[in-house]
Amino acid sequence: MRMTPKFHTLKIAEIIHETEDCVSVSFSIPDELKSDYHFEAGQYLTLKTQLEGEEIRRSYSLCSAPYENEWTVAIKKVEKGKFSTYANELLSVGDELEVMTPMGKFTPHLDSKNEKSYALFAAGSGITPILSIAKTILNTELDSTVSLFYGNKNSNSIVFKEEIEALKNIFLNRLRITHILSRESLGNKLQKGRIDEEKTNALFKTFLHHENIDDVFICGPEEMIFAVKAAMENNGISSDHIHFELFTSPGDNKAVEKPEVTANDVTSNVKIILDGDEIDLNLLSGQTILDAAHEAGADLPFACKGGVCCTCKAKILEGSARMTINYGLEPDEIEAGYTLTCQAHPTSDKIVVSFDD
Ligand SMILES: Cc1cc2nc3c(=O)[nH]c(=O)nc-3n(C[C@H](O)[C@H](O)[C@H](O)COP(=O)(O)OP(=O)(O)OC[C@H]3O[C@@H](n4cnc5c(N)ncnc54)[C@H](O)[C@@H]3O)c2cc1C
Ligand code: FES
Repeated sequence: MRMTPKFHTLKIAEIIHETEDCVSVSFSIPDELKSDYHFEAGQYLTLKTQLEGEEIRRSYSLCSAPYENEWTVAIKKVEKGKFSTYANELLSVGDELEVMTPMGKFTPHLDSKNEKSYALFAAGSGITPILSIAKTILNTELDSTVSLFYGNKNSNSIVFKEEIEALKNIFLNRLRITHILSRESLGNKLQKGRIDEEKTNALFKTFLHHENIDDVFICGPEEMIFAVKAAMENNGISSDHIHFELFTSPGDNKAVEKPEVTANDVTSNVKIILDGDEIDLNLLSGQTILDAAHEAGADLPFACKGGVCCTCKAKILEGSARMTINYGLEPDEIEAGYTLTCQAHPTSDKIVVSFDD
């Protein structure tokens, strides 16, 4: 049975102001919960709190590596961002937050026998999972190499600059780091600008074209992710070997038009299986399975509510549904019957979905 993600109250052990607008936050995990919070490089935590009477849930990738026995996330302040502003300005050591057990599949399949060549691309706060992935590869696969391309505005905005330089000193022959800055010159054209498709092609031509790249991991703004992906595909890397993590927020989804819900219009009978329990409910026209379940008082797991994080993933055992947005599920997962319940609108009179399969 799949483990349902759970929230626990965790205390903040350390806060470091990494740059002017980014804090790293480390949690203490009591010994009895350590196995629940076991994670793989690239996974994220979802934090839950109340701000001005409203429940806020936001996901943050772990920047620590599993072997470090630390649970640290880094939160970059976004303009008018509710939680990121709170975290940067008000959160203190000793404060408690509700923290969901680690989730996510932006993870490399590591094997100490591998002799792989990895290309990692990060921009801004996208460095968080990439740093965890880089450290873990270098410490686990002693014959693999890592090329890290990291985009920022200027040298002061480079989050984890010292830690990355220290890694470079330890893994001199297996880690190559290329900074790309949009608002500062490092003395050459290649390292100036944004990581777009043209820049990625130029970086590939200079650094990667002699290598057989096995896997690419990308994290940053949406347009940067798709530009790097396109360039890598054009340079012969198959899309199955290109992995990416999107950071979006519920705020981003306000633009998506939601179908209207009409109170008398029952369209589907839904059975939800969660932790072995069964919940039956009627879903109104326009509601997602997740919203209908919450309205009926069921506490289903979710984080982004935007079709990105997959926390709300469940398997359709009977019936069918269509998703409004899907950034998270791979074609083979959809083929196997999985859906994102925060996006799923039933297309059959009866539907049975399980969070346990
Ligand atoms: C799987 C996953 C992992 C993530 N990991 C990290 C991480 O390691 N570090 C990190 O800092 N963030 C990360 N995020 C993003 C994070 O969850 C929040 O979306 C972000 O901190 C903004 O939340 P907020 O409450 O401050 O802003 P909101 O109040 O939700 O949004 C305010 C405004 O800012 C815009 N906005 C929201 N997010 C961004 C963004 N990322 N960039 C630019 N504009 C934005 C929104 O469109 C909105 O208009 C991750 C997201 C996901 C889904
Ligand atoms: S809650 Fe994130 S994909 Fe549904």
